[in-house]
Amino acid sequence: MPFKTENSKRLYERTRGVLIEASSSSSRGPSNYGAYPIFMERGRGSRIFDVDGNEYIDWMMGFGALPLGHAHPEIVEAIVEAAGTGAHFATATPVELEVAEMLQKIVPNAERVRFANTGTEAMMAAIRLARGVTGRPKILKFEGHYHGWYDDVLVSSNVLPVTALGLCSDPVKIPDSSGLNRKALDDTIVAPWNDLAALQRAVENHPGQIAAIITEGVMANMGVIPPQQGYLHGLQKLAKASGIVFILDETVTGFRIAPGGCQEYYKLSPDLVTFGKAFGCGLPVAALVGRADIMNALQWGGVLHYGTHNASRIGMYAARANLRVLTRDNNAAFRHTWRISERLCSGLRELFQRNGIAAIVQNVGPMLQIMFTDRPAIRDYREFCQYLDRAAFQKFVLSLFQFGVYASPSPALHSIVTLAHGDEDVDLTLKATEKALESGDQAGF
Ligand SMILES: Cc1ncc(COP(=O)(O)O)c(C=O)c1O
Repeated sequence: MPFKTENSKRLYERTRGVLIEASSSSSRGPSNYGAYPIFMERGRGSRIFDVDGNEYIDWMMGFGALPLGHAHPEIVEAIVEAAGTGAHFATATPVELEVAEMLQKIVPNAERVRFANTGTEAMMAAIRLARGVTGRPKILKFEGHYHGWYDDVLVSSNVLPVTALGLCSDPVKIPDSSGLNRKALDDTIVAPWNDLAALQRAVENHPGQIAAIITEGVMANMGVIPPQQGYLHGLQKLAKASGIVFILDETVTGFRIAPGGCQEYYKLSPDLVTFGKAFGCGLPVAALVGRADIMNALQWGGVLHYGTHNASRIGMYAARANLRVLTRDNNAAFRHTWRISERLCSGLRELFQRNGIAAIVQNVGPMLQIMFTDRPAIRDYREFCQYLDRAAFQKFVLSLFQFGVYASPSPALHSIVTLAHGDEDVDLTLKATEKALESGDQAGF
């Protein structure tokens, strides 16, 4: 069947008088997708189906929200059960306690647990807690790291011309949005990541002022950039020595890299950790966990954190079923996603090399990204901004659509292997890549 997207086009035209950029987030609209986005209708396992009847292997998986793939039967059953007996009470519930106890078993530092709905919200609470317990005003975040759309952290997380970034010793703070609270960024320090000396300088320049250092464990919003050996431990040591709260943002890496996330994989002991995305298996479930002495400051709203939908019963049912599946058979799901990802990544690398394409594939376990570059590796945000052919990546991904493979066309947003992906998905994706590369001359990458 020839690849047609007429129905998507028609729907896109209908959205014009009602939705902004055809959807509910700028990252889903036509700016990433060329003329118009593809409208998806249903999903099952590793596949999604669009409104024109095209089937795709889905490597985007709801920006990482679906660690078991689409419509996993145990998640469907859990959601149906909760929906039929009360989707949300906004009272204490046994299932909330059960999920919190599961987190304590799985996540090394989860002495206390507080649920929220999104990664953004969990991070807002973490920052407020850090400021509350330290009595200090400032937070330190890294260039290229994204922690949600909260004003205080919405800075220097877009891809920009490297000439706009200033020196590593004093990065220019570049707000990612108009309309931010004018003073919000006064208390935000921005430092380059993967550079311990620069971090040390930034901390020394603000003695007794920094409440929290916030980091992703793997830089996951600039493709996939792993931490340099020893970097996160150095950061942790520096934070502890300076009385600074170490907040690890595991919104992306949580329930993905390992059952206990980057914390477990890199053997870290952060003070606070935030989760989102993969936790709710498609439902909005997030959590803030951490040291009891810090978390207890949430009592009586000493540090205030509310939310009508926190720990919705339906979300907790989904999260409980998710954690059961992910940890079954001694965490077999994680062994599976790592194995499938290694096969996919090495197959892609081999194809690019054989076809003389200047592209690399970076991955940490099941998180992977293709990068069109002649560099052997991309090690930080500035290299990402400077050395990537982002237009080529976008054209490449858009051309994969017609061969039945779906991923985000944004070079900053990585692909994800889930429990639902199997060897057949790898084989078909490699075949599709071969076809896309054959058509590459016309497509322009
Ligand atoms: C590392 C990281 N932190 C926080 C967030 C925000 O999460 P949410 O979109 O659920 O608000 C994201 C979202 O992409 C993220 O990648």
